Amino acid sequence: MSKINAAITAVGAYVPEDILTNKMLEEMVETNDEWIVSRTGIKERRVLKDPSKGTSYLGIQACKNLIQKSGIDPKEIDLLIFATVTPDLPVASTAAYTATEIGATNAFSYDLQAACSSFLYGMSTAAAYIESGKYKKILVVGADKMSSIIDYTDRATCIIFGDGAGAALFEPNEEGLGLQDEILRSDGIGRAFLKIDAGGSLLPASAETVKNNQHYVYQDGKTVFKFAVSNMADVSEQIMRKNNLTGDDVNWLVPHQANKRIVDATAKRMKLDADKVLMNIQRYGNTTSATLPLLLNDFEQQLKKGDNVIFAAFGGGFTWGSIYLKWAYNTLHN
Ligand SMILES: CC(C)(COP(=O)(O)OP(=O)(O)OC[C@H]1O[C@@H](n2cnc3c(N)ncnc32)[C@H](O)[C@@H]1OP(=O)(O)O)[C@@H](O)C(=O)NCCC(=O)NCCS
Repeated sequence: MSKINAAITAVGAYVPEDILTNKMLEEMVETNDEWIVSRTGIKERRVLKDPSKGTSYLGIQACKNLIQKSGIDPKEIDLLIFATVTPDLPVASTAAYTATEIGATNAFSYDLQAACSSFLYGMSTAAAYIESGKYKKILVVGADKMSSIIDYTDRATCIIFGDGAGAALFEPNEEGLGLQDEILRSDGIGRAFLKIDAGGSLLPASAETVKNNQHYVYQDGKTVFKFAVSNMADVSEQIMRKNNLTGDDVNWLVPHQANKRIVDATAKRMKLDADKVLMNIQRYGNTTSATLPLLLNDFEQQLKKGDNVIFAAFGGGFTWGSIYLKWAYNTLHN
């Protein structure tokens, strides 16, 4: 029997309609368009304004988009992994709600949280299940309503993050396509530099924590930047070396959209031409768990069967890693 790999066989995405531009942020905090673009590459981001909707709404729309494009019957889905740092509720699984809402009534489901590396880690988990032969159809959703945890008076964070969602379907492939290799890492040293202080077991919510703005994302941007640049570039270079890939062999880099300068540094270390680097940070900012599937969906038409794709991510914790995957299909529609 030939080896089973886990291939991505369909993708979908959703971003909310409301746009928050750099110009609009200029009215809210002491900043300007030129500074934001030159330091981050971001022009605008999307925000889910409806206060009655949580992250599941974004994820459900992305799943529905994937189902509609691929024609898959949701009842065939075995497992739904919902990668997010902004679950609808702290306890009830956002994945379970999403699976039910999209009609994946035969699936089991759970949330996965590894900050901005959540989707990358979810890919690894899905692939391990598929390779083992245990499950045949796994939907990995990456979605975040970052606007629910951002302090729009803090210019160090509010310029960066946006809301969005994407989804990818993983299925067995016996032609050698799909996930080939991975390097995943974490280091708890990062907890001091990118975090939300309150609302967890260490510092439960109280009137005091609300008064002190401790339910918002805090980051030491300079430190996070340094770790992100060196770690994301290191693992991306390592995975190429491990698999005897040169810059010419790699067709696409799918990098977490944290900051254009972090992505550029990673691509440079990999000796990749800029036209092989997928980017949409200018339109969405950093959507945390959604960046990778949003890129796959935006650039789906350009990805060709057999293409060598390197994924790279870095996030709070710290968490980071790189995945090497051979793309498994050509898009025929549109
Ligand atoms: C946040 C980030 C864009 C800041 O860029 P930077 O080049 O490091 O900028 P610095 O923090 O050194 O600040 C430089 C100056 O700009 C100022 N500044 C910070 N935010 C600003 C803003 N939004 N508008 C204008 N000026 C700003 C600072 O106060 C500082 O002024 P000073 O020199 O007078 O003190 C950058 O550090 C970054 O992207 N970090 C990684 C964040 C990230 O990716 N997080 C998610 C990881 S998954």
